[in-house]
Amino acid sequence: MSSFPTLEQLHAIGAKQQPTYDDPAALAGAVERLRGLPPLVFAGECDDLRQKVAAAGRGEAFLLQGGDCAEVFAEATADNTRNKLRVLLQMAVVLTYAASVPVVKIGRLAGQYAKPRSSDMETRDGVTLPAYRGDAVNGFDFTPESRRPDPQRLLDVYHASASTLNLVRAFTTGGYADLRQVHAWNSEFVRNSPVGQHYEAVAAEIDRALTFMKAIGADPDEFHRVDFYSSHEALLLEYEHAMTRIDSRTERPYNVSGHFVWIGERTRQLDGAHVEYFRHIHNPIGCKLGPNATADDALALARTLNPDNEPGRLTFITRFGHDRIREGLPPLVEKVTAEGANVTWMSDPMHGNTFEASTGFKTRRFEDVLAEVQGFFDVHRQLGTVPGGILVENTGDDVTEVIGGGEELDEHGLAHRYESVVDPRLNRVQSLEMAFKVADMLRHA
Ligand code: PEP
Ligand code: CO
Repeated sequence: MSSFPTLEQLHAIGAKQQPTYDDPAALAGAVERLRGLPPLVFAGECDDLRQKVAAAGRGEAFLLQGGDCAEVFAEATADNTRNKLRVLLQMAVVLTYAASVPVVKIGRLAGQYAKPRSSDMETRDGVTLPAYRGDAVNGFDFTPESRRPDPQRLLDVYHASASTLNLVRAFTTGGYADLRQVHAWNSEFVRNSPVGQHYEAVAAEIDRALTFMKAIGADPDEFHRVDFYSSHEALLLEYEHAMTRIDSRTERPYNVSGHFVWIGERTRQLDGAHVEYFRHIHNPIGCKLGPNATADDALALARTLNPDNEPGRLTFITRFGHDRIREGLPPLVEKVTAEGANVTWMSDPMHGNTFEASTGFKTRRFEDVLAEVQGFFDVHRQLGTVPGGILVENTGDDVTEVIGGGEELDEHGLAHRYESVVDPRLNRVQSLEMAFKVADMLRHA
């Protein structure tokens, strides 16, 4: 394989979805600072995750990736991080218990700060300013100062990611993720909902099983800690390139700003700068595939992004929309499988199901989200291939951003607590409901 490209080479290829900075010296300075900072994750951890993604590709594990569409600096607090972790642990416990498969937990967290946008500019009341591209680039407030892309924010991403990841590591190894806390992860609010009660019943069974295990003298380490991985869309070349280091052990480049990084639907051009960057790094990587992707596109991406055809290296994250998945997905899976390309298939049932509610909010229907996951499972069952995981946008809080679900949130309820700066997220109750529904699908897969 050709050697790892320089940042200049990547830019020469032409990268989509990059901000226009007006101070090149400040940008170069920020990149230089980043290059000198310690890694946030270790190459060995990325290798472990690659093995687990490979297991998911064989049907021996299931990937659960979840978190914000876009993290924001102001919310990188202890409470928020704990809440996000807690809902993912709850979902994972439901999936593990109900489907009896190990669940690989991956947060869209500690680095998910840059967003692709459909337009470079946004106009409000006759005023046109750069679009918000995530806290990694500019501010959400609609003022010229806030919307100006600021390279200093790349360093802020590093520091916010470091502190979030530090807390996650403390929570997951320091007792909070202990299975004996399974009841404590449920909160008062959720406990009173039907799905919360369903969860309590599962938790009680797990408790009994743990007590039994303890009584016979078994108390493995796995009961007390969990492996939890970080992930984000590797969008901003300056940041991602500066955070890529040659591992001394394997002498291969790894992106050390997150365990798992993915290429978005808007930047997956075969001859584009992102694909060129991704094909060199040794992390487990994802690539989104939407309704415009052809079977040939998928195969070409598999060959380019995973030239050694390593299991676990490449995950295709499909996001067709509930009404297109059943027709759209089979040709891709068939071709990739027939050609012997190793990929793990994952469903993103969120991004193909977004629409604007009559009240102006960007939303999704819980039922559409579930229907896409069901379509994904059905397609794989019919083809004899493996549904390896799901990606959700969710939060540990009781927001009102996605309509439907057991609480029957409607379009008018969205205004109550809509906090996402980009895409609508499942709230805690909807996340748990989803976990139970997906556990059923997984049991019958
Ligand atoms: C996302 O995952 O937030 C996203 C932007 O998705 P996609 O690239 O599939 O549109
Ligand atoms: Co999103």
